[in-house]
Amino acid sequence: MEAQENWINKLERLQDQAFKDLQQAHKETELQNWHVTYLGRSSELMGIFSHIPQAPKEQRPLIGQKANLVKQALESQYSTRLEALKQETLEHSLKSEKLDITLPGRKATRGRLHIATQILREIYRIFAEMGFQIYLSPEVETDAYNFELLNIPAYHPARDLWDTFYTTTPGVIMRTHTSPGQIRAMREFAPNPVRVVLPGMVYRYEQMDASHEIQFNQLELLAVGENITFGDLRGTLEDFAHRMYGEDVQTRMRPSYFPFTEPSAEMDVQCIVCGGEGCPVCSGTGWLEILGCGMVHPVVLKNGGYDPKIFSGFAAGLGPERIAMLRYHIEDIRYFWSNDVRFLEQF
Ligand code: PHE
Repeated sequence: MEAQENWINKLERLQDQAFKDLQQAHKETELQNWHVTYLGRSSELMGIFSHIPQAPKEQRPLIGQKANLVKQALESQYSTRLEALKQETLEHSLKSEKLDITLPGRKATRGRLHIATQILREIYRIFAEMGFQIYLSPEVETDAYNFELLNIPAYHPARDLWDTFYTTTPGVIMRTHTSPGQIRAMREFAPNPVRVVLPGMVYRYEQMDASHEIQFNQLELLAVGENITFGDLRGTLEDFAHRMYGEDVQTRMRPSYFPFTEPSAEMDVQCIVCGGEGCPVCSGTGWLEILGCGMVHPVVLKNGGYDPKIFSGFAAGLGPERIAMLRYHIEDIRYFWSNDVRFLEQF
């Protein structure tokens, strides 16, 4: 009888101690340790279970029953406590990591294409529809390609038209226009016909002001083949102007001079600001100059590898920044390459 009391007391003491300890466990790890101590394989309780067979036979059922009750009580207290702890942790993190979903979001800034690139692509699209492909030529050129092969010999007064950046290597310069690409394209395609646009940056040694930059884009147009006439040039450019500025826009051509074209011309479009009435943008003339052009000079054709008796061609050079300035009423060309995002973001 005494022995039985002993077993039961032991179990009750164990249970009391376990419950008391459980109150002290405030973290999940503490709780796990508690489980190991009181319900683990080498816990006192498990020890009692394994010792039951040594108790007097008639006491065994009672001791076994009690031990099972204690075990169940501990297990259930444990899971209640664990559940409570998890709930506490969740509530705590919900409170401390609270998101205010009513706060306005931060706006993601988006990149964009530079306005000059946008205009260039618009021009590519128009000429692509007319069968012109893009041809790239170098920005660092030789004097030969930039001038001599274009019928501009050294010391020729026409060189004054292009103030040049020279490099420290004799004969190597920054291209002053995209026209040297004419020679490169012709030499690649001859004796086949050519129909290309040559885009890219050009460089001029200028005093910078609102209408002069030391770097800007140009887009050269070149077509070489048999029986190409000035009428083709005029038709192509007029079509371009209508697609770029609108069907109703008037164009006109004025005679001009370039060493590499003969005859040469400049094309104007009706002022897109005043519609031809005369305003400050067109200096009261009603017209805006948009490009230089002409029939490829026989000397240039020959330098490109074509027999001028059989072949003819036309060329034109236009300025994408100038087109953008006229369209968006930008009054200073220096905005384009000064990288002020307030300017660039507008397009
Ligand atoms: N290259 C000339 C310039 O920079 C423009 C031009 C190109 C004129 C092609 C006629 C033909 O001014």
